[in-house]
Amino acid sequence: MAAPLPPVSARDYIDAIAQHVSSVCVITTEVDGQRFGLTATAVSSVSADPPRLLVCINKSGLTHDKVLAAGHFCVNVLAEHQDVVAMVFAGMGGARDDRFATGEWTTLKTGAPALVGAAAVFDCVLGETSGQATHTVLFGDVVATSHVKGQDTLLYGVRRFRQMRKVFAGLDDGADDYL
Ligand SMILES: Cc1cc2nc3c(=O)[nH]c(=O)nc-3n(C[C@H](O)[C@H](O)[C@H](O)COP(=O)(O)O)c2cc1C
Repeated sequence: MAAPLPPVSARDYIDAIAQHVSSVCVITTEVDGQRFGLTATAVSSVSADPPRLLVCINKSGLTHDKVLAAGHFCVNVLAEHQDVVAMVFAGMGGARDDRFATGEWTTLKTGAPALVGAAAVFDCVLGETSGQATHTVLFGDVVATSHVKGQDTLLYGVRRFRQMRKVFAGLDDGADDYL
């Protein structure tokens, strides 16, 4: 039997995954009347039927345990002009208590904070979870959405916040089939 292949170093993994560009999201929750949230790019769609997505949250942060306690969370996909919100919820903006002072917030169905003007919002009931070393993968069953049609999203990749640049304009024939 062949010897198992050892994993690459964390450094090599980080340098390579840094090339993977993602939309920037803020994951929020509310528990006992208090709001919590963090900036996250580890977000992915799982399925449309049932409507389900996943987020990966570091166990060492504060919001991780709060989402588990609340049993619900909201994925706010930031619009490209909401980069300040991204920085604040990544902890770059000073005191944690002030995070929700940036941006205008409302709620949809679960009570988790939803960002007004976000490119898209997915309000989720927490489903299954999977512990993965430093992180937990949390599955969310989507119970409400909102979106701003045509709003460009904020991106992060190659170690910078970025804006979208439309290259394949010729494909945009108005059909929604290219999801
Ligand atoms: C661009 C960017 C993407 C991030 N993505 C994630 C992520 O997917 N999951 C995560 O747990 N932390 C992520 N972070 C780090 C958290 O936003 C940061 O540690 C935050 O302060 C945690 O807040 P908390 O202690 O309230 O949980 C990201 C930070 C940045 C700047």
